[in-house]
Amino acid sequence: MALLSVRNLTKAFGGLTAIKDLSFELQKGEILGIIGPNGAGKTTLFNLVTGFYRPNSGTVHLKGEDITGLRPHEIARLGLSRTFQITQPFANLTVLENVKIGAHCRNPSSQKAEELALQILDSVGLFEKRDTLASALPVGHRKKLEFAKALATQPELILLDEVVAGLNSKETNDMIDLIGKTQNQGITILLIEHVMKAIMSLSNRIVVIHYGEKIAEGPAEEISKDPKVIEAYLGEEYVFAENR
Ligand SMILES: Nc1ncnc2c1ncn2[C@@H]1O[C@H](COP(=O)(O)OP(=O)(O)OP(=O)(O)O)[C@@H](O)[C@H]1O
Ligand SMILES: [Mg+2]
Repeated sequence: MALLSVRNLTKAFGGLTAIKDLSFELQKGEILGIIGPNGAGKTTLFNLVTGFYRPNSGTVHLKGEDITGLRPHEIARLGLSRTFQITQPFANLTVLENVKIGAHCRNPSSQKAEELALQILDSVGLFEKRDTLASALPVGHRKKLEFAKALATQPELILLDEVVAGLNSKETNDMIDLIGKTQNQGITILLIEHVMKAIMSLSNRIVVIHYGEKIAEGPAEEISKDPKVIEAYLGEEYVFAENR
């Protein structure tokens, strides 16, 4: 059984259909990349899967259970967590306090939540910043905090919305390592990203969205050469050897 199954999902905002009859499946342990031009509907897809928007039609199943229309916190409790493209920390709380809120999802005890939060901050490389106010963090650290908050809910499936975009080259490599490490821990990942180095090196499979519709799906090597994908998004073939 697929871990996540999206079937015939459609979402319209007034006259604009942002997601159109979209279907795909995600198997446990996989990294599935989602790519497509700006405005293609990628973030809208995440908002539908995580319960922030209700679809006009179609369904979302997690481990065989229909989660369509559930509230975001109910979906988080079932093991699905996400990051936000526009990072959304509680600005007046410290880094540790922010991550602790996520950790409370499965840890009612404050001490347990704090232990978990500190362990996650260590794993993402933010331990030293634990007492800094979230509002004072530079973008690279904000992205890590966003990731840490999602990890703190101890998800089975994590949806990452552009956690690499905007990072410098060292931060990019660190984030790619972190995503790979997360997969190695057994967490399944849905990855929206414009940074091709990240998408092509991490994704086991890629789904390409254009004007809300799926135009291609397959392994990275195949997608990078697909003429439809090159025309709609890539511009030119992505050459693996030059980007290793
Ligand atoms: N809440 C909303 N109300 C109205 N229109 C919306 C809303 N959210 C998204 N849209 C529209 O839906 C379309 C898809 O937007 P979405 O943010 O999902 O794109 P995206 O693929 O994530 O783009 P990007 O790569 O720039 O992040 C866009 O035309 C956008 O303007
Ligand atoms: Mg987006």
